[in-house]
Amino acid sequence: MVIDSKLSLQQRLDEFRKEGKTIGLVPTMGALHDGHLSLIDFAYSYCDKVVVSIFVNPTQFNNASDLEKYPRDIEGDAKFLTNHQPETIIFTPEVSEIYNDKVESESFEFGSIIQYMEGEFRTGHFDGVGSVLKRLFTITKPDKAFFGEKDFQQLQVVKSLVNITGQDVEIIGCPTSRNEFGLAQSSRNFRLTKQELKEAELIHEALSKAKNMFASNSIENIENQVKTMFQEHASFDLEYFSIAKVSDLIPTKTKESGQKYRAFIAAYLGEVRLIDNIAIN
Ligand code: PAF
Repeated sequence: MVIDSKLSLQQRLDEFRKEGKTIGLVPTMGALHDGHLSLIDFAYSYCDKVVVSIFVNPTQFNNASDLEKYPRDIEGDAKFLTNHQPETIIFTPEVSEIYNDKVESESFEFGSIIQYMEGEFRTGHFDGVGSVLKRLFTITKPDKAFFGEKDFQQLQVVKSLVNITGQDVEIIGCPTSRNEFGLAQSSRNFRLTKQELKEAELIHEALSKAKNMFASNSIENIENQVKTMFQEHASFDLEYFSIAKVSDLIPTKTKESGQKYRAFIAAYLGEVRLIDNIAIN
């Protein structure tokens, strides 16, 4: 069922709540793929009813042409979703339904978790993500909302967002869905040629190498090895490779015992910017 008005969605969800049903929200920007289906399956394993929002959020793009080029195919997405889970409620609001006439980001105090990596290379991106999610949570009032660990920095930002706003929604992180060669599922993969799809496996290879090296090598040594891997592949342009503590997401060169670390990558393959990360200890 596709609903484009927030009022109709709210009426529908209120009926479910009266029946004692729990609501899960999977926010998306469309261009749906198997990774989204795995988030939806996750949501159904926790909640009675699942809403998937499809909304290309203008405030999280720091590049106007990226926003313009973002693939939009609501009909195709709805078909893809309904074939998988016919019961799913698909919410497809217009920009005015979300932002009224003021298409602007709010500014949030996310602290260190947005200073580096995606926060550094995509100025204002996380304020845009926070702004749209705050509104989507207000509209849908979900019990739980589901986000992929592929965007791990975003996942931490969303957890921080609900602490800041006090919204009563539990944020659930879901494991990254990968193809058989380890490439993380992403809407951007649709823009890769067959040859590039094969080359893109390098990203997961580099992260796996970092994981294998972590216990017995310095972070500097790991970074050098990963940089060399990318230098040997001319079609790639490595934007960053960082190892950071999960608690603050500040790239580090030192290891503290008892802390959890992840390795993060962003790289251009041709015109397409790909990101990924993994837990390394
Ligand atoms: O990860 C995404 O697709 C977007 O950032 C999100 C969470 C749907 C917010 O627009």
